[in-house]
Amino acid sequence: MRADIEFIPRQGPFRKGEGKVFVVIDVLRATTTIIEALSNGCTEVIPVVTVDEAFSLAKTLPGEETLIGGERGGLKVDGFDLGNSPREYTRDFVSGKRVVLTTTNGTKALQSVAGCEHVIVAGFTNAHGVVQRCTTLQADPVMVPAGKKGRFSLEDVVCGGMMMDLLEREGVALTDGARASRILYKAFAPNLLEMARTCEHGQELIRLGLDEDLAFCVRTNVSSCVPVFKKGSVRLD
Ligand code: MLT
Repeated sequence: MRADIEFIPRQGPFRKGEGKVFVVIDVLRATTTIIEALSNGCTEVIPVVTVDEAFSLAKTLPGEETLIGGERGGLKVDGFDLGNSPREYTRDFVSGKRVVLTTTNGTKALQSVAGCEHVIVAGFTNAHGVVQRCTTLQADPVMVPAGKKGRFSLEDVVCGGMMMDLLEREGVALTDGARASRILYKAFAPNLLEMARTCEHGQELIRLGLDEDLAFCVRTNVSSCVPVFKKGSVRLD
């Protein structure tokens, strides 16, 4: 096995990726929100790219109650049930319900790997479980940081680096990029909250009064959930 990471978000979709497992990371905050929702009994999260898609899809879905969640500019969209703060996705609110989610970067990153054989949703909160799943699958992990409007995002690459550190301990070979992300992780590991507070997106969330989300999103190993994205839906399998 050999693990790799895409430092800059890819424009356009990934190929099918046989023998690979794509690990999508949007620490602040989309993938942390998905992990939290599913950990709290949400039945599935359907990621979509646009706000219009979210409204029109939600109307057509049968079965359990559907909530619409996500953000634009970091804030809840008018008419949505939930924003993109993982702290909103409590058991009381999401248990037994489906969520249609749209966010600026995270749900786009998920769509870039839609149709690939193995896609896992990761953040600091479930990194250990994700690494275990990757080694069980015996597929080459490719970390896909969501980035920020097509640019590098420190918090996502540091989270990828944490998983690279764990993968290396399992004997998985690392590409140069993977090694570089691991070095970044090691540099910030003593104070992940400080990293989150000083990175560009963390600064924006602080300006919006959402600082409490930062501490929530950098908690490590608090969820054993490993969400899988398959056929347009993210679920626990
Ligand atoms: C995104 O997808 O860009 C983020 O999750 C934005 C946010 O912090 O809500």
